[in-house]
Amino acid sequence: MNRIVKWAGYGLAGVVGACALAVGGAFAVSEAMIRWPVDKPRVALVASSDPGAVERGRKVARLNGCHDCHGQQLEGLKFHDEMPIIRAWGPNLSLALAEQTDADFDAAVRHGVAADGRRLWMMPSSAFAHLTDQEMADLMAYLRTYKPTGVKQPRFQVGPVGRLGVLLGKFKSEPDAIRANGRLQIADAGPEYAKGREIARTCIECHGQTLEGAEFLKSPDLTIAASYDAEDFEKLMRTGIAAGDRKLGLMTAVGPSRFSALSSEEISALHGYLKARAQRQFAAAETAQIQ
Ligand code: HEC
Ligand code: HEC
Repeated sequence: MNRIVKWAGYGLAGVVGACALAVGGAFAVSEAMIRWPVDKPRVALVASSDPGAVERGRKVARLNGCHDCHGQQLEGLKFHDEMPIIRAWGPNLSLALAEQTDADFDAAVRHGVAADGRRLWMMPSSAFAHLTDQEMADLMAYLRTYKPTGVKQPRFQVGPVGRLGVLLGKFKSEPDAIRANGRLQIADAGPEYAKGREIARTCIECHGQTLEGAEFLKSPDLTIAASYDAEDFEKLMRTGIAAGDRKLGLMTAVGPSRFSALSSEEISALHGYLKARAQRQFAAAETAQIQ
């Protein structure tokens, strides 16, 4: 009897040992995937210096939420705490600005590669890849108005569920996400909607590369905007309150912090574009049904 118990004990120890090895191995592989360095992109961006540059850059920063993740003084902050997936801090950019060139910032913002060659995670570079050279140069002029303040922030912590996501390819580093997106663009609805389409690039971060909605954030396909009338849409953009006076989650936070920076004309152009995009999509679905 004792012997059986003993052997069962060995067996159990073996299973536990094998599990520990598997967990340790998975940890090591995910850690290597997170840290694997990438080649730094060769970029030569220089901040704009004309009189309107800082103001234009301020709007680019507002619309793209730089302060939401990097703090009002760019001192950095913890913006996401969702263990066992991930806990993440926006780094202190006011300190980074003192050490890095405009081109270093461009490599991070539009290519997802930090000045020290590490691949970035959780920094939405795959959405910011759509910024034009002019927007990026204006943004730099604005960021350069900040002086060093605060302390260095920790780098993110990835929990077991987050690591599983990395191993399964569900969570990608930003350079990998940019590569995977390839030439995918949001739909072109014709020249009369060009202005609205330009503004809609700022929705990509949370609504997906083609505005099709994102599983991770549970955000809808932006065809939903076609069901909004002009008044409700403007209210959603300015206050984050949805049609029917509904308070939402993240969307209710980003209305006031980001999209209230848009003028009424811009909001109307954005709505026009989203309606035209939805119409094209509905028409395509109908054609597919007839065939
Ligand atoms: C959703 C949150 C989020 C938003 C929005 C965001 N960032 Fe970041 N950013 C991060 C995180 C997280 C990191 C660090 C990622 C890492 O270490 O892998 C980062 C890193 C950076 C870096 C690299 C800093 C370094 O350590 O060298 C720069 C530069 C940067 N962000 C600039 C910006 C700018 C400019 C904007 C606005 C256009 C912006 N970020 C918007 C989260 C964000
Ligand atoms: C920082 C992330 C984020 C950004 C940026 C963002 N959204 Fe959203 N949005 C969400 C999420 C998440 C939801 C789902 C509701 C929720 O959880 O807040 C949502 C929901 C919506 C809805 C559905 C509202 C309803 O009636 O239920 C609309 C319309 C919308 N967003 C429009 C936009 C437009 C237009 C833009 C770009 C100008 C945009 N969003 C940018 C995160 C975002």
